[in-house]
Amino acid sequence: MEPIWKCRYCGFESDLWSKYYWCCPRCSKPLDIIYKRKFEPETRVRGLRRYSSLLPFVPEKSLGEGNTPLINYRDGGREILFKLEYLNPSGSFKDRGSSLAIYYGFKMGYRGIVEDTSGNTGLSVTLYSSFYGLKSIIYMPRNAPLGKKVLIKALGGEIVEASSRYEASRIVLENIRDRFYVAHTWSYFYILGASTIAYEVYEEYGVPDLVIAPVGSGGLFLGLIRGFKNLYDLGVTRKIPRFIAVQGVSVHPLFKRMKGYSLEGDSSLADGIMVSNPPRLEEIYEELVSVKGDVVLVDNKDIINAMKDLYERGFIVEPTSATVWAGYKKIRRENLGESVLMPLTGSGLKTIDLIEKYLMAHGP
Ligand SMILES: Cc1ncc(COP(=O)(O)O)c(C=O)c1O
Ligand SMILES: [Zn+2]
Repeated sequence: MEPIWKCRYCGFESDLWSKYYWCCPRCSKPLDIIYKRKFEPETRVRGLRRYSSLLPFVPEKSLGEGNTPLINYRDGGREILFKLEYLNPSGSFKDRGSSLAIYYGFKMGYRGIVEDTSGNTGLSVTLYSSFYGLKSIIYMPRNAPLGKKVLIKALGGEIVEASSRYEASRIVLENIRDRFYVAHTWSYFYILGASTIAYEVYEEYGVPDLVIAPVGSGGLFLGLIRGFKNLYDLGVTRKIPRFIAVQGVSVHPLFKRMKGYSLEGDSSLADGIMVSNPPRLEEIYEELVSVKGDVVLVDNKDIINAMKDLYERGFIVEPTSATVWAGYKKIRRENLGESVLMPLTGSGLKTIDLIEKYLMAHGP
């Protein structure tokens, strides 16, 4: 079966390689890609290309995305598995999705790329655009971390600054023209990319009891859940982990959907997960319920403390990535099982200004 676009809401279907749609042309909801899967990892190949039998296609070229280290750490009687996603080529897990999305855009004949982002996706998209000789224009909030902006420019990307993340998403729609709009908060490519994290963990370790992951637009979260579910459905594994989503207290649509109420507080340090209206919210909610999962909220104080812990242990992450450890600390006394997987999603090397401000503020 050739891969197709499919809308789970109105039934729209179209050949994947005939035309690109960033959302359903009939009902404007997010699209999925349907294709046949097998579990036959390529031998002697690392990274995404290892999982060609689990993906609709794999890029011909690689910058070394995926195949990130899995580091074990003992917390009492429990095994913590840190997946060092911040060691991807542009310093975040987004490279897995971008390598698929931008390769697809290149194959479809696009010459220009546009994207709206709070930072990491913009850098990742720009990196892969440059790799394929495409021009990227990135719409991002003015207050996005400086390191991310500098690197986007250094890689040949153009930045259009907006007053907020929301405003960036609004302006980009007026400027798509004949360019490839990545739309990562909608995109199935980013879910597919993140699912390869689950395949790598399974091959190296097996299936953990629990996964704790940050949720912004939910691409990472959906990819992890579906990755482990695919392995189960294909008869490769015999259990699906439980999942805990972590959101920031200032922007927490999934928490609100789960609990029916909101809380107040400041989590502005977690800029990567400040997505107020994720297009796939209902899917994330349904998946979370299906694995008997839950949502934990963290604030800036929790994030700073978690960053200190992670830096002490040698993990140079950005504030958004520290949310998983902050979330874990809130539930650590609960019965979480014996093994907990936490992806460390983004590199602190891009957020030096924030590290200086918050980790060095009270002296070493
Ligand atoms: C460092 C980091 N962690 C986590 C996330 C959340 O990922 P998602 O939007 O797929 O939920 C992001 C998103 O930008 C991010 O930059
Ligand atoms: Zn539709």
